[in-house]
Amino acid sequence: MDELLSGLRAAAEPTRLRLLSLCAQGELTVSELTDILGQSQPRVSRHLKLLCEAGLLDRFREANWVFYRVARQGAAGDLARHLVELLPAHDPVIALDHERLTQVKRHRAAAAEAYFRANAAHWDEIRTLHIDDREVEAALVQLLADEPVDDLLDIGTGTGRILEVMAPKVERGVGIDRSREMLAVARVNLERAGAGNCSIRQGDMYQLPLPGASFDAVVIHQVLHYADEPARAIAEAARVLRPGGRLVVADFAPHELEFLREQHAHRRLGFGEHEIMEWCRAAGLDPGRPVALPADQLTVMLWLARRPGGAASAGGAALDREDVASC
Ligand SMILES: C[S@@+](CC[C@H](N)C(=O)[O-])C[C@H]1O[C@@H](n2cnc3c(N)ncnc32)[C@H](O)[C@@H]1O
Repeated sequence: MDELLSGLRAAAEPTRLRLLSLCAQGELTVSELTDILGQSQPRVSRHLKLLCEAGLLDRFREANWVFYRVARQGAAGDLARHLVELLPAHDPVIALDHERLTQVKRHRAAAAEAYFRANAAHWDEIRTLHIDDREVEAALVQLLADEPVDDLLDIGTGTGRILEVMAPKVERGVGIDRSREMLAVARVNLERAGAGNCSIRQGDMYQLPLPGASFDAVVIHQVLHYADEPARAIAEAARVLRPGGRLVVADFAPHELEFLREQHAHRRLGFGEHEIMEWCRAAGLDPGRPVALPADQLTVMLWLARRPGGAASAGGAALDREDVASC
């Protein structure tokens, strides 16, 4: 009762309701929220503090950035989600906030795309600066080795490296990426590697241009740290998994290398072990404990989660070649 009352008191103010509505759409920084609301930073910070104290919002720091989102757990988190649902969809203030949020996201996506465009040709070189990829690739192959994989999807395939590694072990591989430049490099790499069983296609990880329940395994390798809404990307990956199918997420453990954000368009500086596991659970998957591959500066983590149900290739839709025509 006390928690409910303090949540209601904290939310009962126009700016704070707007903040709840915005933070229900993903993880946002104070400066993004300030830009959207058009209010001073100290004012917005004060409202955010009250919402966090009441348990309606979660706040988490990553090096120089602080993110806010609607609380994942607890009665106050549930209350926040209910309140957001009750907000009139056509309220002009809320509608304008969401329009501005879309612009902020578009701006971010454009910056990341410009980065990938500029780095497509030597992306493989850049990624080897951070960690020994061969070790990660071997661990990934091993994670998936104990069951056959007919259809594999590589989300955010980039230069197609994961498809190249997995091609001999699967019947068919499909790579999806938003960047045409990356896909152009991937096409050359896959041809050179003789990976004729793999195809690539332009698409967005939040809206995969693929039917549900059509893959035995999905890999998201070094992509989520660019994502505005990593939980949504995981939910979309879960959608295309067949019952019994497996998702592997490879990404960094939490770190403080701010230059990756400034120079390499990273949004998140790694993910907590339980954070990804929770998102998998929320997407209806059963996660296992992740594997950690520590290195000098960055630890790569591999999370494996399974969609409940029958044997990996049983059930679900068959993947039509038409669905994955090359871009
Ligand atoms: C760091 S690269 C990783 C590429 C590859 N998975 C690898 O490990 O070599 C990240 C890739 O994610 C892609 N990407 C980022 N956001 C995306 C989105 N919303 N939908 C599809 N691809 C996206 C980028 O274009 C880029 O190619």
